[in-house]
Formats: sequence, C-alpha cells, structure tokens
Amino acid sequence: MMKLVFATTNAHKLHEVRVMLPDVDIVDLNSIGFTEEVEETGTSFEENAYIKAKAVFDFCGLPTMAEDSGLCCEGIGGDPGIYTARYGGLPVDHDRNMDKLLSALEGRSRKAFFRTVACFIINEEGEETSTFFDGEIHGEISQEKRGANGFGYDPIFIPEQHTTTFAEMLDEVKASMSHRGRAMLLFGGYIQRLKL
Ligand code: IMP
Repeated sequence: MMKLVFATTNAHKLHEVRVMLPDVDIVDLNSIGFTEEVEETGTSFEENAYIKAKAVFDFCGLPTMAEDSGLCCEGIGGDPGIYTARYGGLPVDHDRNMDKLLSALEGRSRKAFFRTVACFIINEEGEETSTFFDGEIHGEISQEKRGANGFGYDPIFIPEQHTTTFAEMLDEVKASMSHRGRAMLLFGGYIQRLKL
C-alpha cells in the first residue's frame, strides 16, 4: 500500500481524505514528528498548498500532499478566498467566521464556491516534482446555520441542485460532490498510475 504524508493538522480534513483515498496509507504531521507552524504567506491557493507541501517534504522526504482551500463569495468580490480560515480573526473560530460572513452578505448576492488546490511533491529518480489538483463546488450561502456534520462553513453552504447544507449531509454525500472530493478523485487517479 502506498504511503504518503498529508500535511495537515486539521482532523476533519484528515478524516475526509482518508475516506476518499481508502487504498492509501495516509499519515499526518503528528506521526512524522513535524511540529513546525508553517506560515501561509502565499497569495493564491496554489502557492499556499505548495508552501505547506514543500516544508513537510523537505523535513521527511516522503511523498507529501498538502491542500489549501477556501470559500469565495460573489457578493463580496470573491472574499474570504485564501483568508477563509482566519476571516473572523485569530484564533480560528468557525462560528465567528460564519457570523461575520452572514452579516457581510446581507442584501448581496449569495452565490459562492468552495475551492481546493492540492499539491503533491515526490522525489522521482532523484528529481523533485510537484503536481497540482483542483476541485470546486458551486452553490450559495444560506440565510442561517443549519446542520451539525462536517466542519468550518459547512452549516451555511448549500451546493447547487440541493436544498440542504453540507452540514446536513452524510459525510459520504458531501464527499461525492465537494471541492476536496473532486480534487482527491483526480489525485487518487494520478497516484494509482505511479504504482508506488
Ligand atoms: P486552510 O486550512 O488554510 O486550507 O483553510 C481552509 C478553511 O476553509 C478552513 O479552515 C475552513 O474554514 C474552510 N473550509 C475548507 N474546506 C471546507 C469544507 O469542506 N467545509 C467547510 N469549510 C471548509
């Protein structure tokens, strides 16, 4: 079974990705002893995914995947985008984030999409290569929080062609359409062909 490091400290993301890639032995940062706080100084999802993957790959040398994700809302010019996690200030507080977004969108377009960019770094025959995988799910921001599953902004995101929020869906239903699910489908196909 292929082993790879998922460069995250987010237990929800780890759980989701393990379910999405059942044939891969996915280890997290704790299990490789990586304790450094990597600063996301990039100006795009791609840059931040690369910064996280590169820091961990340089530490352990194992095939490493990192992903950066966020929510982009039409009514506020694509915000919070790469600042989604810390939108309501630090330390990260999902309720405060959602409350701030619900206020900001009052009287504005509620169209929004989630985006994930995953970056995979591996050493192939002495050469370091990085490959990117992208996933998006479009939908809208609800008027109020609904549901208790998932994490982050799940209680206020309704994917298109649905009436329930991500937080009202079963994990596997969210995974079948989510930004992360779509990026991991592409990534899963790619690593299968590598036959590590
Ligand atoms: P990152 O950890 O820097 O990629 O920050 C991503 C942030 O976007 C998270 O902290 C969540 O607030 C939000 N986010 C990303 N993916 C999801 C999701 O699947 N559901 C809800 N919120 C998400």
